Amino acid sequence: MPSELSPIDKAKFVAARKATEYVKSGMKVGLGSGSTAAWLVQCLGELVRDEGLRMKGVPTSSRTARLAREVGIEVISLDEAKWLDVSIDGTDEYDGNLNLIKGGGSHLQEKIVATASDRMIVIADVTKKVETLGAFPLPLEVIPFGWQTTKTLIEETLIGMDVLGQTTTLRMNGDAPYISDEGNHILDLHLNRIGNPRQLSLMLNQIPGVVENGLFIDICDIVIVGHGDGRVEVHDINQDQVEKTKFDFLDDGNLFSEDM
Ligand code: 5RP
Repeated sequence: MPSELSPIDKAKFVAARKATEYVKSGMKVGLGSGSTAAWLVQCLGELVRDEGLRMKGVPTSSRTARLAREVGIEVISLDEAKWLDVSIDGTDEYDGNLNLIKGGGSHLQEKIVATASDRMIVIADVTKKVETLGAFPLPLEVIPFGWQTTKTLIEETLIGMDVLGQTTTLRMNGDAPYISDEGNHILDLHLNRIGNPRQLSLMLNQIPGVVENGLFIDICDIVIVGHGDGRVEVHDINQDQVEKTKFDFLDDGNLFSEDM
């Protein structure tokens, strides 16, 4: 029940709840990955079950696909959908231009799905806002073949870039390398500060062996930010004004919202 959640989970929950207002019957929706996106999937499942929302979901990870099916959302592939009305996903960082670092390890599918959508909405708790991207490690999905050579090429490329750190680590899952849904490895770049995210993204994607990086440049249209006290802000790249709402957690577990 929402009222028993930690402040950070309440923040994620209200952002996700607000995002459901952008999903209308008949829509095809990209479903992101991570804990905030999981709240979204649960909220959408509730609307499908209790309010007759008709929608189809394109998940961005095997984990999201499982959850979506569990909560009663019809799951289709991106190739079946071809194009989506909206995709809604979490993030690890967003800046004032709504550029993102998405570092959870599913960014390849997430970026393909977001790019194939009329608009991308990001849902985030307030801790994800940064002045400059880069404190969160930037993931690169790389193919396993020759990954150590790819790592060396990446490190050489970083020497010429406007970044503050250059350490690169192979993401692990216990004792073994982490394997993405596409069967690839993830290299995490510890850059601390990324001076020119657009340039860095282009440079990294040119390296053979790199499949995709976790920078989302000019892809996100709206960031919905949740706070632990139920406040929600909607930052739309095409609007000067920030829309503000507050959700109140009622004893019965339901939510009540009002414009601020
Ligand atoms: C998965 C992601 C996630 O959206 C990102 O890591 C945010 O996760 P969370 O909502 O759990 O904080 O990019 O690849």
